[in-house]
Amino acid sequence: MLHRQIEERLRAAVAQVAPEADPGAILVRPCPDARFGDYQTNALMALAKARRTNPRQLAQAVADAFDAPGLCDQIEVAGPGFLNFRLTPQALVHSLTEAARGRHLFFATAAAPQTVILDFSSPNVAKPMHVGHIRSTILGDALARTFRLLGHRVITDNHIGDWGTQFGMLLVGWKTLLDPAALERDPIAELERIYRAVNARCSEGKPEFDRTTLEQARGELVRLQAGDAENTAIWRRMIALSQEQFATIYGRLGVRFDHALGESFYNDRLAGVVRELESAGIVRESEGALVAFFDDLPQLQRHPAIVRKSDGAANYTTTDLATLQYRLTTWNPDAVIYVTDGRQQLHFQQVFEIFRRWQPQARVRPAHVWFGSILGEDNRPLKTRSGENIKLADLLDEAEERALQVVAGKNPDLPEPEQRQIARMVGIGAVKYADLLPNRQSDYVFSWDKMLALNGNTAPYLLYAATRIRSIFRKLAESGETFDLATAAAHLTLNEPAELALAKHLHGFDLVLHAVAEEHRPNYLCNYLYELAGQFTGFYEACPVLRAEDPVRTSRLVLCELTLRVLARGLHVLGLELPDRM
Ligand code: ARG
Repeated sequence: MLHRQIEERLRAAVAQVAPEADPGAILVRPCPDARFGDYQTNALMALAKARRTNPRQLAQAVADAFDAPGLCDQIEVAGPGFLNFRLTPQALVHSLTEAARGRHLFFATAAAPQTVILDFSSPNVAKPMHVGHIRSTILGDALARTFRLLGHRVITDNHIGDWGTQFGMLLVGWKTLLDPAALERDPIAELERIYRAVNARCSEGKPEFDRTTLEQARGELVRLQAGDAENTAIWRRMIALSQEQFATIYGRLGVRFDHALGESFYNDRLAGVVRELESAGIVRESEGALVAFFDDLPQLQRHPAIVRKSDGAANYTTTDLATLQYRLTTWNPDAVIYVTDGRQQLHFQQVFEIFRRWQPQARVRPAHVWFGSILGEDNRPLKTRSGENIKLADLLDEAEERALQVVAGKNPDLPEPEQRQIARMVGIGAVKYADLLPNRQSDYVFSWDKMLALNGNTAPYLLYAATRIRSIFRKLAESGETFDLATAAAHLTLNEPAELALAKHLHGFDLVLHAVAEEHRPNYLCNYLYELAGQFTGFYEACPVLRAEDPVRTSRLVLCELTLRVLARGLHVLGLELPDRM
């Protein structure tokens, strides 16, 4: 990777001029403005400050010591002490040739591969998966794919909500309100109906409130927790019915999990966790409950965390502590990443802090990757017209239906089954991309028209850009020509500014992928691919490909193919499927 080579050379030069400098702090990043150079470092300003020397003089001394013939031809000191580097065309040609020969695809895998556990999606049993779970599923899957691509060991675990007080109510509903025919037709809808009905009767303050039902629900829950055979069988049935629905959705989204250890998996570990916390003095009794207090932490001071309620029951916090411990002992991870919406921030701060006190020697880095809400065009949380939560299955149906209109409009002559297949990829891709593109911490407005637009930073635009490059090679094949990338690489030259710009942009893939993994932000990759598609368009408009004369023609075909490969790989990392044509 060219910027890594510059970094290496730069570190060597710095070591000559300032041997005490920390090489890890010497970083090279793309120049924000291509007029000044391709890459830039600002590390020498901090270094000069530490050494109390003039930053421009230090930068000049480093520039003089910088020795990389063939890599950069001009190194310039700029502004208060930046160093700007410009790649030579030979360095670019060399790197592209290596890529064409299959030695790399413009990224390096992680120097120190890590074990990363990703906890995402995690819907709840007997409730339909709704749009709230879609962001977790899509973001989590994109992160898992990124980590895998970079050579990390990734373990995905779907922490399904299959335990908790809702089962008391569900059991009452199952025993008194269940409509077997409705359960047969649409199990989740029926489970949701009985849950709602009983929940209303159990909610003090609601007109339907009824104390007897509340007591019944408590009784059913206690019997389930005690292992009562009938209740356990019903509970299992509800889980199985829900899992069928989850599996259908994951199949449509192309998401898979290595494990789906639900909350109930940890039931018999909870008492042990509480005991350990108690004997370590991390929790103490308060009003009958066992509670962790965080007096020394300003952000948690006013938010103590209960790990055992006054009725003796454990809760979500206890379960997450047991889960984290289990994951540590089972997989020995370097990082555990939880992907949920922003409303769970406090919960994870508490869990991580309790865990730190409980197991101070653990080297694991837990991270909460949170995201904002999906809003309707009215800027309120996305709902159906009648105010219901939108079901994920309906949303995906609509996406495919709407994408079909786009695809049929573009390719009226394609047979319908093929149109539908493309529409599936475009529709699902559009929903995913719309979810990945915004900064994950902001809310975003869900708009069919925007996400399905063929122009702009959208899935259809990017998929179309990639299929357009494919069609160049299809034309080539139709005229009986063969093209072999590795052989063609020998003819590579870069002369036109648009060729150079495209070649340079391809080299940005590495930094972007690593930034996505480090900051858990797939939107960086979305923007990179969008810019790449733009650079390609610029190149294609300025530089004829099939109409050019050899060897330029072959050289440009190499650029086309490498761009296609990066686009395809990037889209794949985001979880998008690429149709052959569009
Ligand atoms: N089931 C939870 C929900 O739907 C999300 C679980 C997230 N993972 C975890 N380990 N707490 O809100």
